[in-house]
Amino acid sequence: MARKIAFINYKGGVGKTSLIVNTAACLAKMGNRVLLIDLDTQSNASIWLMRLERWNKVNETGEGAVYSIFDPGKQTLADCIVQDVVESKDGEKLLPGLDLLPTTFNLVDLESEYKGDPQRPHYLIFHEQLQAIEANYDYIVFDCPPNILRASQLGIFSANEVYVPSNPDALSLIGFTLLVEKLLMFNARSASFRKPGMGVPAQVEGIIFNSIKQGVDIEVPKMRMQLRLNQYRKAKRVSQRARILDTQVRDATVVRRAVTLGLPVIFVSQTADEGDNVSADYINLAAEIHKNALADASVA
Ligand SMILES: Nc1ncnc2c1ncn2[C@@H]1O[C@H](COP(=O)(O)OP(=O)(O)OP(=O)(O)O)[C@@H](O)[C@H]1O
Ligand SMILES: [Mg+2]
Repeated sequence: MARKIAFINYKGGVGKTSLIVNTAACLAKMGNRVLLIDLDTQSNASIWLMRLERWNKVNETGEGAVYSIFDPGKQTLADCIVQDVVESKDGEKLLPGLDLLPTTFNLVDLESEYKGDPQRPHYLIFHEQLQAIEANYDYIVFDCPPNILRASQLGIFSANEVYVPSNPDALSLIGFTLLVEKLLMFNARSASFRKPGMGVPAQVEGIIFNSIKQGVDIEVPKMRMQLRLNQYRKAKRVSQRARILDTQVRDATVVRRAVTLGLPVIFVSQTADEGDNVSADYINLAAEIHKNALADASVA
């Protein structure tokens, strides 16, 4: 069974998309088969990895994206996958093993226009289609917006693990607190739709500190986050092994440049000026998340 992981925080702009794009790329580079699913109607991950020209074609037709499966009979999720999405400007495949299920701006229609059957909620339809392709992957990762409205619920219902990107500030801690509350509410509300074999409902496994500036001491915000995490572990509101990951990702201008180039950071050369080797942080992060999986396997 593929490991299914959502990156989410109720705080916007903390680095969910940049962490998931780069972690997914590193997991694929390590030899894993990875599917990245973009569940944010802003379409940042999709535009980043497909570049504007390719993504525009999907956005114009509205076909070949997450919302297509809710437009009755149009397409299945399997039809929408962009295989080996990372390409050079000349169309050369750079990273076999990283596939993308893109989104377009019409995903916003899931929030209000879409009138589904209450007995078959949107997240159940999505999950059933995901099950049909799950065996093709080692990892399925979901980039979520900073909320648990319907689009996010697609990922949250299918995922077993949640990682929470955070910045070392008070607002990220508030975002984390709100996330846990809303996550537990959603899990309770959707419990009757869960089936045997789905694994545990999504639970927080880790906090990832992102955009850490050189020379800035983050011990205080880290300690506050740790205290909150300890409280939640004790109250069984998060996984019993939830922790702040050892790997933290430095602040580096190359991250923004990589978006413009339409490439994961590991494919962009960096100068010392640009934050030196933020690639190493993403590689370490992917290895740390991967190691959690191996620990699971050895327990089982
Ligand atoms: N390590 C980093 N160093 C420098 N800039 C970064 C880093 N990580 C993210 N950024 C920049 O911060 C901004 C927000 O990042 P990103 O879009 O990944 O956040 P997000 O949490 O996905 O936002 P949203 O809530 O809008 O989805 C972007 O401009 C991104 O390029
Ligand atoms: Mg984002």
